[in-house]
Amino acid sequence: MGSGQSIHGQWSSRLTFILAATGSAVGLGNIWRFPYVAGENGGGAFVLVYLLCVLVIGLPIIMAEILVGRRGRRNPMDSIRVLALAEGRSPHWQWAGLLGVLTGTLILSFYAMIGGWTLAYLAEAARGAFVDITPAAAERMLGDLLADPWTMLFWHSVFMGLVTAVSVRGVEGGLDRAAQLLTPGLLLILLAMVGYGLSTGDVGRAAHFLFAPDFSRLDGEAVLAAMGQAFFSLSLGMGAIMIYGSYLRSDTSIPGSSLAIVAMDTAVALVAGLAFFPVVFANGLDPAEGPGLVFVTLPLALGQMPFGSGFAVAFFLMLAVAAWTSAISLMEPAVAWLVERRALSRLRAGLIAAGAIWALGILSILSLNLWSGYTIAGRTAFEALDYLTNNILLPLGGMAVAVFAGWTLSRAVTADELDAAAPAYSAWRLLVRYVSPLAVGVVLVGKLLGG
Ligand code: PHE
Repeated sequence: MGSGQSIHGQWSSRLTFILAATGSAVGLGNIWRFPYVAGENGGGAFVLVYLLCVLVIGLPIIMAEILVGRRGRRNPMDSIRVLALAEGRSPHWQWAGLLGVLTGTLILSFYAMIGGWTLAYLAEAARGAFVDITPAAAERMLGDLLADPWTMLFWHSVFMGLVTAVSVRGVEGGLDRAAQLLTPGLLLILLAMVGYGLSTGDVGRAAHFLFAPDFSRLDGEAVLAAMGQAFFSLSLGMGAIMIYGSYLRSDTSIPGSSLAIVAMDTAVALVAGLAFFPVVFANGLDPAEGPGLVFVTLPLALGQMPFGSGFAVAFFLMLAVAAWTSAISLMEPAVAWLVERRALSRLRAGLIAAGAIWALGILSILSLNLWSGYTIAGRTAFEALDYLTNNILLPLGGMAVAVFAGWTLSRAVTADELDAAAPAYSAWRLLVRYVSPLAVGVVLVGKLLGG
């Protein structure tokens, strides 16, 4: 096997890297997933554990991923391999990189389906379908979509088409430009939306739900969910941030950029929650409603406000763009792997990866209707994929990166890449060597043993 040639893409500036990584991090995880997972797990205590996970696990691991990517300058599998060999360590570490490539493929298969929902809703918004919609009608609209595999397949295909169109253009012409145009656009629309969410509905109750911890609801399942959500939301544990780091110039500060990305991602999740739950409570909806939560609450909220249709178009456009920029990063490890390992052109690599992911996505689509009766351990295919990737594969991948960066890479290498003040560097090393892997291990093992 060859070591794989670097495809040598590079971000045009430090800001573009931050925008690209933020575009990866801020996505359906923040706006669609965070509110309903928080809702299902009781709110406040979950949010507290989530924030803790972001700080002691997310922040050190995001720095570890970026540094491994930048030092290795290749797809995750080869970056890890090259760095391990340079330290005189086993090349078998590379399998952690390959696992990441596969995890990203699995996630994108259902992520693209949800991305398709956002496009379907964008079309509904554009024809004014939400005006004065009732809670029952909003529930029915989502139900109708999920019951209709052909419509979902159509939008799933459009979504994967959009992702592929950017991906095949490569780093400079595709990913870099997309980050510059799309990420600021989505942050701007989000800001405008938040104003509305905060000015209507029951903000006090939403804040109470999100921030007043009720520890009686905090079981092993909720802690695992909080950790999985932290990995998912920060795009960690599958090589997306690592591959983005591999396109980073060597004069950019990794700690500074990481802080910016983590802060932005966390702020968007909290703010999205604060903007949603008022509407949920004001309309008597159930905060534990599940994956449909956002697709029911938003049409309701937007259907009642002045210029609601315009706002609805803006919102679902923003959500679709957020999903788009994240999906591009979910596919990038696989594309880079195909280009470097299989010596394919970027075009071919993009088409092959996208085709496989598209086909796999059909499983999730059918699991919501025709095949909803088939379950694995009580979960449909979509639920099983979501559980396996977020709660198990991402934490495992993240733990591997932490152990790799903390124990396999020498101090000289990581200190050189991080270039942080001595106390900050020591704190990072302590977290990445002991605290993060232990925390992930305890939660995973505790859960697997039935805790
Ligand atoms: N972070 C993205 C989101 O919150 C999802 C994602 C996960 C993207 C893993 C890349 C890698 O929607």
